[in-house]
Amino acid sequence: MNRRNFLKVAGATGALIAVSPSAINGKLHASNGGLYSTYERVQLVDASGAPIKASALKKETNYVFNYPYASTPAILLDLDTPTAQNVSLKSEDGEEYIWKSGVGAKRTIVAYTAICSHQLAHPTPNDSFLQYCQKDKTTMAFKHGGVMVCSSHLSSFDVSKGCKNLSGPAGQPLASVILEVAEDDTIWAVAVLGADKFHEYFKAFKPEFKMFYGGKRKAKELVKESALTVTLSEYTKEIIQY
Ligand code: FES
Repeated sequence: MNRRNFLKVAGATGALIAVSPSAINGKLHASNGGLYSTYERVQLVDASGAPIKASALKKETNYVFNYPYASTPAILLDLDTPTAQNVSLKSEDGEEYIWKSGVGAKRTIVAYTAICSHQLAHPTPNDSFLQYCQKDKTTMAFKHGGVMVCSSHLSSFDVSKGCKNLSGPAGQPLASVILEVAEDDTIWAVAVLGADKFHEYFKAFKPEFKMFYGGKRKAKELVKESALTVTLSEYTKEIIQY
């Protein structure tokens, strides 16, 4: 029985869902498990296949990896200050959940699904409207930088608080990718917390899946074992930020 199946079984009992101990600390998510899904435990690696080390991440730099599906992008960040802890968040359907914190020695490392919770803007190999705006930069989406910005319709999200929606039309946080940093400094993605938009995403971008992944079926394949992790400037041709 894998961890995903275990979640389903536990959920059917009506008991609180038992999930990755490293990610859970008491009440964390809806009791039916709907806002927490475990997937393959996947190691983040660079283009040569070498593990990405947590201590080697460049601060405030957008890194992209696809997880949990071959076509669903996530943004990895090492922030310059520790994140908040045990943040209460709410989906647009009113489901509450708790985002525990960032990971790493100083709780500065976070990852979020890079599919906007408003109308699904996301980085592609061609362009990106959704990314973190560094603290010393300005954005039209919020009063200061240091936030995730979707420049499609100017939504912003608080990366230090579980990507809570701060401004603009987005009605809920970006879902989080739950990470683990192992003793050897390697980084692993293990789950998704929050109301992800994967279902809508897979319905919306068929031509794109064909162009970049060889079709929808391949785009929906789960990432296994490792996920290529590159900077956003390496991932996409054009970064658009207002
Ligand atoms: S798609 Fe992101 S703000 Fe509209």
